[in-house]
Amino acid sequence: MAVIPVNIAGAPYEVRIEAGLLAAAGQHCRPFIRGGKVAVVTDERVAAAWRGPVEASLAAHGITSTWLVLPAGESTKSWQYLAQTAEWLLEQGVERKDSVIALGGGVIGDLTGFAASMVKRGCGFIQMPTTLLAQVDSSVGGKTAINTTAGKNLVGAFHQPVLVLADPLALDTLPPRETRAGYAEVVKYGLIDDADFFHWCEAHGPALLAGDAAAREHAIAKSVAAKARIVAADEKETLGVRALLNLGHTFGHALEAETGFSDRLLHGEGVALGMVLAARYSARIGLMNGQDAERVAGHIGAAGLPSSLAALGLMCDGARLKAHMLHDKKMDAGTLPFLLMRGIGQTFLAKDVDLADVAAFLDAELARG
Ligand code: NAD
Ligand code: GLY
Repeated sequence: MAVIPVNIAGAPYEVRIEAGLLAAAGQHCRPFIRGGKVAVVTDERVAAAWRGPVEASLAAHGITSTWLVLPAGESTKSWQYLAQTAEWLLEQGVERKDSVIALGGGVIGDLTGFAASMVKRGCGFIQMPTTLLAQVDSSVGGKTAINTTAGKNLVGAFHQPVLVLADPLALDTLPPRETRAGYAEVVKYGLIDDADFFHWCEAHGPALLAGDAAAREHAIAKSVAAKARIVAADEKETLGVRALLNLGHTFGHALEAETGFSDRLLHGEGVALGMVLAARYSARIGLMNGQDAERVAGHIGAAGLPSSLAALGLMCDGARLKAHMLHDKKMDAGTLPFLLMRGIGQTFLAKDVDLADVAAFLDAELARG
């Protein structure tokens, strides 16, 4: 089992990664559970696949679980389900020193974590991420949130889990498109500051996507170690370090907004194309070698992720995508910080990007054959 410590001052915890962890949940959770009972929040798809083994393992370790099974999908990250979850946790008698369990992808993790941050002014929570995206990104680092009419993830809290159990076997039941979307976040860690890991992705990404157990475990452990290092250095994203995790997200967010945050473009797919655009824009302004930018695009495309803006078939121009960017929550005093690359594994935060030039670049990418 890989055990990655997340050394957040005042709230350290472990991420444990091993095939079979969900079926061994009782053993791992028992030290965090008081009074022999625990409240579990999940969604209907995850429950269909994974409630059985988790419930049985908790029971085998003397823990009775009560379950809130919510609808699957992004729209569950809402005021309505936040209120329902918080009220339900209170009905279950959850106390501040208790830990509740979030079993699911980023939607359930973000929602349950936010509810846990509020119940009794903050109770514990255990993340059991069941998507690749949640295992390598959202379950680690304590960002929790819901979506509102003003936009995605605009209301939330930093609230760290007490334990994360990442079971690569959970991915056996995940639709391949969701696995590919999560893989974009894996590649992201290579592009941020670890060229060797990007090269590993080029060599082993196909095996990972085909379900190879060793490749999955290695990628999850490397990704979590990278995220743990970054969030421990800058928990609240105030020092310009955690911001590196947003590579691809500014372009990606504009594309998600243009496609209505719908199934037309999953978050990870937007990040994938966003990273290609960040690389190509970096090459356009002379920061990055053009061959390296195309190497990024080549790997993203080979993984079955979108690597061409033109191929998305959007009915808009660069100015419209730029306008979406101006609604990004990373806007800071009228400027938009961008994550750009000096090379593979050399991402940095650029604060002086010319947005008119970005719009012209996007026009060129939209027209690219
Ligand atoms: P998700 O939670 O919606 O899961 C995707 C789909 O897969 C859902 O239909 C779900 O029911 C299903 N599913 C999950 N696990 C399954 C399994 N093992 N078998 C079968 N089906 C399964 O989506 P996601 O991609 O995990 O997360 C996206 C969310 O994460 C977004 O809301 C995004 O804002 C958030 N996010 C948060 C952070 C953070 O740091 N907190 C980081 C990145 C993304
Ligand atoms: N997913 C970005 C972050 O956790 O900061």
